[in-house]
Amino acid sequence: MQTDVLITDVGPRDGLQNQSRILSPAQRIALIEQLIAAGVRSIEAGAMVSPKAVPAMAGSDEVIASIATRYPVQLQALVPNVKGYQLAVQAGAKAVLFVICASQSMNQKNVRLSVEDSLLQLQQILQLATQDQVEVLTCIAVAWHCPFEGKTPVATVSQLVTQLQRLGASQLVLADTIGAANPASVRHLLQVIVQQQDAALLGCHFHDTRAMGLANAAAAVDVGIRRFDAAIGGLGGCPFAPGATGNVATEDLVMMLEQMGLRTGIDLAALCQVGTFAGELTGQCTGGRADRWRQLQLAAQQPLY
Ligand code: COA
Ligand code: ZN
Repeated sequence: MQTDVLITDVGPRDGLQNQSRILSPAQRIALIEQLIAAGVRSIEAGAMVSPKAVPAMAGSDEVIASIATRYPVQLQALVPNVKGYQLAVQAGAKAVLFVICASQSMNQKNVRLSVEDSLLQLQQILQLATQDQVEVLTCIAVAWHCPFEGKTPVATVSQLVTQLQRLGASQLVLADTIGAANPASVRHLLQVIVQQQDAALLGCHFHDTRAMGLANAAAAVDVGIRRFDAAIGGLGGCPFAPGATGNVATEDLVMMLEQMGLRTGIDLAALCQVGTFAGELTGQCTGGRADRWRQLQLAAQQPLY
């Protein structure tokens, strides 16, 4: 069994994009530095999107430039189009996450493009990225459920995966953007997609809206997935997807995976402290049950794993 798991903390992007309190680039840099110190190896540091559409992501170029020049971590920026890709590369990003939705309505709301036009944007990005030696990950948003169109048919996601593969998109992330999946629907979709796409190149992104984030991650582990997004403190939500709440909390995911015998390389005690810091910065942290349990273990002088 493959025991190493790669967790990408998307807190500095997904976690902050919809917060009422807008953090400065310096505060976001401080948060990322603490995540790195806790052993997080992969971080979504910001989004190259219109600051009119998402004011909280303004200054993402500054955040990326600061971290990319100082730390050897996998740092990615979310990009919705070619312009975003160019801005990310100018800032020094060596990896981008291109987002495309599995439903037309959500894609329109999110990036104001049809799914076909997003595919054309991706095609150009992939060409540029080959020259620039930039890694491109592609996130399929609303892979299980769309807030406007309801349940996303498995066949729709499967066809989109085929189209993406034809363009040469090799790393894919399936996102439950509004947190409406359950372990059965996670297993069902993934069992189909892993027939098409090597599980090693497939990641999952779960939100905890219905308290099933961890259960969904466990179902994905059973199907062979070893790459997950999570957000420190369970922060998160999408301004364009009604009903989206926090991501699965990174500290809870680390706790679960480590206790299942998998290895994340992340120090849970240090990570819990980052969760506290994220709470102080934002004034709002919904997730992160691991810290309470960790403190009980500590008081009882019992080991974490
Ligand atoms: N980053 C920053 N600015 C961008 C941009 C990008 N990726 N893409 C376009 N723009 C700018 C254009 O240069 C233009 O600027 P101007 O008014 O100064 O000339 C302006 O935005 C409008 O350009 P247009 O191509 O018509 O974009 P739009 O108004 O249709 O908006 C997006 C498209 C994608 C930029 C916008 O919808 C967006 O930023 N969405 C955010 C998506 C998001 O973050 N979702 C949550 C995470 S999944
Ligand atoms: Zn998300």
